[in-house]
Amino acid sequence: AMLQSRARVSVEAGGPTIDPNIYGQFVEHLGRGVYEGIWVGPDSPIPNVRGIRSDVVAALRRVRVPVIRWPGGCFADGYHWRDGIGAAGKRPRGINSAWGRTPETNAFGTHEFMDFLGQIGASAFVSVNLGSGSVREADDWLRYMTAPQDSAPGQERAANGHPAPWQVPYIGVGNESWGCGGNMSADTYAAAFRHYAAFLRTYSGPRARLIAVGADTDDYAWTERVMAQAMLWRPEPTPLGLTSDTPLMWGLSLHFYTFAGNDWHAKGRNVGFDENGWAAALARVALTDELIRRHAAIMDRYDPGKRVALAVDEWGGWFESEKDAPSQLYLESTLRDALIAAKSLNIFNRHADRVRMANLAQMVNVIQSLVLTRGSAMVVTPTYHVFDMYKVHQGAEALPVQVETPDYVHGDVRLAGIDLSASRDSAGKLHVTIANLDPARANRLRIHLDGGRWHRAGAQVLTADAIDTRITFDKADPFVPRPLAVHLSGGEVELVLPSKSVTVLEVE
Ligand code: AHR
Repeated sequence: AMLQSRARVSVEAGGPTIDPNIYGQFVEHLGRGVYEGIWVGPDSPIPNVRGIRSDVVAALRRVRVPVIRWPGGCFADGYHWRDGIGAAGKRPRGINSAWGRTPETNAFGTHEFMDFLGQIGASAFVSVNLGSGSVREADDWLRYMTAPQDSAPGQERAANGHPAPWQVPYIGVGNESWGCGGNMSADTYAAAFRHYAAFLRTYSGPRARLIAVGADTDDYAWTERVMAQAMLWRPEPTPLGLTSDTPLMWGLSLHFYTFAGNDWHAKGRNVGFDENGWAAALARVALTDELIRRHAAIMDRYDPGKRVALAVDEWGGWFESEKDAPSQLYLESTLRDALIAAKSLNIFNRHADRVRMANLAQMVNVIQSLVLTRGSAMVVTPTYHVFDMYKVHQGAEALPVQVETPDYVHGDVRLAGIDLSASRDSAGKLHVTIANLDPARANRLRIHLDGGRWHRAGAQVLTADAIDTRITFDKADPFVPRPLAVHLSGGEVELVLPSKSVTVLEVE
């Protein structure tokens, strides 16, 4: 029988702005994430502009990618930026020490990254090397990128083909310093962050926004220690009562990956899974809400004004790669990934007061991708369609939502059957995005709009035949969203959500 649900959107209540950067991306030198996925080189038969493939650029422009974090990940703390500038033929052939000791040609470096950002219209989030680098190396990189042309670093940049300084609005101060980025304790990292923060700055454009390394998953002690010791220049008042009030950090990160269960060493397959794999992954995604609430509650104690953002700068579904995967951490995408993305993004939207950036791991050919490439071919994933459907939330005002819905129950898993977030854009249009987690049952949803006058409603839905329907290079895309019937009357909207689906509703 069809399930029945009710929701209420508080249109008049208003809420925080959904930072467009919640729809941000992460790209690392890993597998074919950069080489082939973005960079094919100017001499490639694959259509490109200055070596950057045009099909990928066009796809990313369409979903309005706002910001990209680069060059890692674990790669960042072994990256030395000077290897990646200068004449293409003269760059050292390096070794990717983070990922399989594979060759690193350095063909894609700072200039190519900035060119790529320019082509898609996204902002830079550059992670500097704290683990194996130095304050001097990181500062030199920022000078190289942002100093005016009449300075020595600006002249060097100009000699390499880019006279004007670039804008670097976001700077990651290390990556996973508790693990691959340095095996540090929270106290050691807090001291290192303070040290770097004293020297890292931009030399033109917007002031540097530093993002400190935050917790892995539920490491609340890390958040506590780093907030206590590194948020402010002077965390404790002096005997005469002097304090400082300007946060050293713009944001604190959080890394959280979804797999089928809670075991890093048994993540489950990414294709060919059954309902156990479906339910276990969705249960883990649901933890995102608890993680944000608990990390944010700690941040609230040090930063009640919510000046410091929680930046979920690595998130996504990470399953076991198939043995014949064409590159490291390459995953084929299925309908389950669309649900993972939809639920995660709804949760970020609902926490827009504190979550002001998030970066999907990783944009191309790695883990939960937006696009996949195979030589000259490119396909967009179900996750891509979700980002496309959800882009209407970028920069909109988040609205409170309440929902009454039957639970989706499978084995030990019990979750609210549907998951929603809502926003109102600058033109006054209302958007509600809805995930129906139930793999078998449709859900008739009635949404009461508390306030506003509405005269038109429409919806698009993404679903597929099976929970593990996958994207392939040789068949038509089975995930293209299609129109869904909506009934609007007075302040109420009614629609029937297919099982295992993601819907975007627009009301104006
Ligand atoms: O995204 C893959 C890896 O996951 C990143 O390099 C690292 O930061 C995290 O552990």
